[in-house]
Amino acid sequence: MSDVEKQAIVMVTGASSGLGRALCIALARQGTNVVALGRDADALAETQLAVEKEGGRCLCIPFDLLEFDVYGKLFLALKDQIPHLDALIHCAGALNRCTPMQYVKADDFRGMLDIHLAAPNLLTQIMLPLLRRAPTSTVVFTSCDMMHDDLPNWHGYGMAKRALNYAAAMWKAEQPDTPYRFVTLNPGKMRTTLFKRAYGGMHPNEVPPAADATEGFLRVLAAPSEAVNGRALSLDEALQLPG
Ligand SMILES: NC(=O)c1ccc[n+]([C@@H]2O[C@H](COP(=O)([O-])OP(=O)(O)OC[C@H]3O[C@@H](n4cnc5c(N)ncnc54)[C@H](OP(=O)(O)O)[C@@H]3O)[C@@H](O)[C@H]2O)c1
Repeated sequence: MSDVEKQAIVMVTGASSGLGRALCIALARQGTNVVALGRDADALAETQLAVEKEGGRCLCIPFDLLEFDVYGKLFLALKDQIPHLDALIHCAGALNRCTPMQYVKADDFRGMLDIHLAAPNLLTQIMLPLLRRAPTSTVVFTSCDMMHDDLPNWHGYGMAKRALNYAAAMWKAEQPDTPYRFVTLNPGKMRTTLFKRAYGGMHPNEVPPAADATEGFLRVLAAPSEAVNGRALSLDEALQLPG
């Protein structure tokens, strides 16, 4: 195996902003190469610059995760370009506004299920052959406080996020070979675009920047399988994993 083939490569969705961008930078800092997905090509280019500043390499792919019909093309474009994927971290997310279920419009509701539940599961499905080329690989689904808390007004967003707990456990049961791990991680509130939309009544400075959550993700990637596989972790639990 050449040196390039041995280097860790992680795919991050939502890499053009917030948590996804912060993770790309944190991964680059530890010598991991990233495949960065998002729709906004200019914002992805900013992520790429930040990754390269840390000495990392970044393959940017402008891609709309709601276009499920072209997932196959994404895989075909990547399969000869990268030797393997050591991890797939699902950070893409969107939210128009919190609304009681009684008033939610069908398109808004379904949109939340598509971006937060269908997209991460179907992208995992299509990338599985690349994840299987690595000696060990990890899929991380980013969840939120609705992972355990029964909070009102989050409609499809909250339902999709809670279902990710089951998704990780289901993937674990279906892919029992120990080198493949599926984890849900709640990063907690972070000062990002999505936060500003969701928590209009809270000042962004009341919550930490997305960069503060990245260490938890790095710990999950480095942890032994038995400590993380199939688990729904909070950021505090992830930070207690061995570094
Ligand atoms: N911020 C919080 O307080 C908080 C708390 C708990 C969990 N989370 C979760 O953390 C994750 C990251 O969110 P964030 O706070 O960092 O939000 P953010 O800054 O708004 O980032 C969201 C990212 O998702 C991408 N995205 C949205 N729709 C997409 C689509 N159809 N196709 C491809 N990419 C798409 C956006 O990129 P483009 O616009 O370029 O497509 C952007 O890069 C989300 O899963 C969110 O639910 C956030």
